[in-house]
Amino acid sequence: PGPGWAVDADVVVIGSGVAGLTVALRCAAAGAKVTVVTKARLDDGSTRWAQGGIAAALGEGDTPEQHLDDTLVAGAGLCSEEAVRTLVTEGPDAVRRLIATGATFDTDDDTGEILLTREGGHHRRRIAHAGGDATGAEISRALVQAVRDAGIETVENALVLDLLKDPEGRAAGVSLHVMGEGRHDGVGAVRAKAVVLATGGMGQVFSATTNPAVSTGDGVALALRAGAEVSDLEFVQFHPTVLWLGPHAEGQQPLVSEAVRGEGAHLVDADGHRFMVGAHELAELAPRDIVAKGITRRMQETGAEHMYLDGRHFGAEMWASRFPTILAACRAHGIDPVTEPIPVAPAAHYASGGVRTDLRGRTTIEGLYACGEVACTGVHGANRLASNSLLEGLVFAERIAADIAATAPDALPHWDARTAAAESPATFLVDPSARIEIQRIMTAGAGVLRSADSLKQAATRLARIDTEVSGQDVPGTEAWETTNLLLVARVLVAAALRREETRGCHWREDRPDRDDSGWSRHLLVTLRPDRT
Ligand code: SIN
Repeated sequence: PGPGWAVDADVVVIGSGVAGLTVALRCAAAGAKVTVVTKARLDDGSTRWAQGGIAAALGEGDTPEQHLDDTLVAGAGLCSEEAVRTLVTEGPDAVRRLIATGATFDTDDDTGEILLTREGGHHRRRIAHAGGDATGAEISRALVQAVRDAGIETVENALVLDLLKDPEGRAAGVSLHVMGEGRHDGVGAVRAKAVVLATGGMGQVFSATTNPAVSTGDGVALALRAGAEVSDLEFVQFHPTVLWLGPHAEGQQPLVSEAVRGEGAHLVDADGHRFMVGAHELAELAPRDIVAKGITRRMQETGAEHMYLDGRHFGAEMWASRFPTILAACRAHGIDPVTEPIPVAPAAHYASGGVRTDLRGRTTIEGLYACGEVACTGVHGANRLASNSLLEGLVFAERIAADIAATAPDALPHWDARTAAAESPATFLVDPSARIEIQRIMTAGAGVLRSADSLKQAATRLARIDTEVSGQDVPGTEAWETTNLLLVARVLVAAALRREETRGCHWREDRPDRDDSGWSRHLLVTLRPDRT
């Protein structure tokens, strides 16, 4: 159906996590009329779930150069050094501006200094946190409040469908399906001078993930349909320590932050053996891909379904004050970390790749920007360093706002948003019942451990889903989400199959070594815009 309504804005921001809301605030402060659209409620994205914190060289003796070194090592040869340098040098001031916007971080009672913890891959204490282990919730609270105080227009329950372009092919707005939001109900469009994708990740493409239900790869799928370049999709990061709730757990699983290891908890097998000691100089605090592999390998060796994280020595008081969220989540599932080790296993956590951008957040389509997890700025390479993602959202959001202020056209595009939306790429929607099947295929074939065989099987089974249920026009969020999941799953599997090596968080059993002579490069994907 064509759009029933259309509104105009200078900037339309899609998504309401740290990246989207920071772009919105900075653009509004520069005088732009901003509309933020978000698929569920304003605080329903991944940001709210972030625990450990936000990395920045804020501590005494730490420097952006050391932060850069750790980020490059984790990224396994595929980071853009220029992008990382931008992140780590602009990061500390971006965190200070976040604090000025209203976010409160944990500080030392005596000195008032921001408390810093460690996480995997960091050689220093450089992770600022809030509410102990509720950093994302505090950042989300502060930004949502600031957006409301600034009077920025927000449209909730708005699923973005497709990018709209002007006759010259420049991004000029988006079509949306809004449910139950009064005057903006049904299919509609926002016409704008600049479009910012800040839609978050795609963890829901796998069965077990730390990501909330809304993380269905919508931004990457939209960008692919629009013909934008996407990069590095094979690099899916699996968080090593996710609360293990049984062999068939599906959907969002409780995270047990790396900060728990940062404060000294040990990873042990069922016999209490610390298997990461001797496996890496940083032991339990090795970069995330190495710890996830260490856990998976030990599970294979021992036939166990999970390992354990032992933080009993913290004591009840420290658990309650430093990790209240994790303590409550464990206890809600009948595990008491004060008196017993926590069963943990890896689960899908973060998309290191995404819509390719330059240092100003520009994608390969003029007027279309990407920011946060949906983007591939080059800072993560083959494996994101822990707690660099909130920072990336902040730093690149500010850069995008600056670029929009400097370069956005004076006038809105000369076209009718209603007509343009009605003519936007026809997409055959996938039946929502395929969602679980897609997730199971991806977990079995493209999970922590991959091989040419497993990936080929996944590709075949995904292709079958496509032909079995495509063409069933089932309107509504679930059908669009499933359509997006299937598209990103297929592109992800194709990239993982092509990269015939093991690097960062891409682990090919049949190609166990890193191959710098053949694969020190990125896999770029562009679909023809008329392909869906
Ligand atoms: C965590 O708290 O372990 C997650 C940090 C991150 O993913 O950056």
